[in-house]
Amino acid sequence: MQTGVGQSHAKIILIGEHAVVYGQPAIALPIFAVQARVTVTLEPALQTPQIKSTYYNGPLEQAVGQMQGIRRLIEQLWHALDPNLTPFELTIESNLPPERGMGSSAATAVAIIRALFATYHQELSQQRLLKLAALSENLIHGNPSGIDAATTGATTPLWFVKGQPLQPLPINLKGYLVIADSGQKGQTGAAVKSVQNQMMSNPEQTQPLIDHLGYLTQQVARNIAQNELTVLGANLNRAQLDLRALGVSNARVDHLIDVANQTGSLGTKLTGGGRGGCIIALAATQSAADDLAQALSAAGAIKTWIQPLHAL
Ligand code: PMV
Repeated sequence: MQTGVGQSHAKIILIGEHAVVYGQPAIALPIFAVQARVTVTLEPALQTPQIKSTYYNGPLEQAVGQMQGIRRLIEQLWHALDPNLTPFELTIESNLPPERGMGSSAATAVAIIRALFATYHQELSQQRLLKLAALSENLIHGNPSGIDAATTGATTPLWFVKGQPLQPLPINLKGYLVIADSGQKGQTGAAVKSVQNQMMSNPEQTQPLIDHLGYLTQQVARNIAQNELTVLGANLNRAQLDLRALGVSNARVDHLIDVANQTGSLGTKLTGGGRGGCIIALAATQSAADDLAQALSAAGAIKTWIQPLHAL
C-alpha cells in the first residue's frame, strides 16, 4: 500500500503583524506542541479521491466553502505528481484552532504538500513548499505576506520580510510565552483591509504606526540577542499600543491583555490579524507562566499554551 505522511505545526507572530504587509520585518515562532498531520494512502479501488477531516468527510470534488483552497491545492498536486491519477484517501488531523492566528490553514496546506510529495517519493525544497502553500493561502486570505506558511513549515523562529529569503532567528531566553485563545474567531482579512483603508485615507497617522512597529521589531531582535527579557516585554506592550491605534484589537482581546498585565506579565499583545484570535504574554519563570495561564482561563480564554523560549 503506497502511503505518505506530512507534518507541520502552529505558529505565533511575536511582533510585526500588519506592519509586515507594508515591508516591515516580523518575528514569528514555530509552536511545535500544536501539530497538524496529514496521511495519504493510494486506493486504486476508489472511484475518486476522498477527504477525511473534522470539517469535511467525503469526495474531494465536493469539498467547498472553507475547504476550497485546500481542494485546489490537492487537485493541482495530484495532477502534477501522478500521471495515472490513482484515487487516494487523505486524512487531516490537526490540533490547531482554526481562525485564531495560529496558522491553521497554512499548517494544513504545508502538511498536505509534504504528505503528497512523500507518497510519490518526490524531493521537496523549502522554496517549492512555500510557493505551493501560497496557492491555497491566497484563496483563503486574499493577499497574505506568506509569514504563516513560512513559520508552520520552519524548524526555527524566523525573521521575516515579505519577498525576501527567510532568516532563522534563534531564540534562547530565560522566559516563557503564554498563548491564550480568546475563543473569538480572528478577522485577519477584515483587519488587514481596514489598515489598508486607513493607509489610503489617513497616511499621516497610519504610516508612523507601521514604521514604529518595524522599529520595535528591530528592538525585539536586539533584546533576544542580548537576553533582555524585561525590555523585550516593554516592547511587546508598545507594539500593542500601536496595534490598538491601528484598530485591530477589540474589547475581548483588550480585556485578556489587561488581565495578563495585572497578573504580572512582562509584556502582552495580540498575535496575528487580531479582532479576536489569540494573545501572547511574557513570563520569566514557569510558575509565573502558570499563574498567567490560570488567570487568563478564569477571564474567559478557552485554551492556553505555554511555550518555553529556551533553545528554540
Ligand atoms: O492572523 P494570522 O496569524 O494569519 O496573521 C496575519 C498576519 C498579518 O500580518 C496581519 C497579515 C499577513 O498576511 O502578514
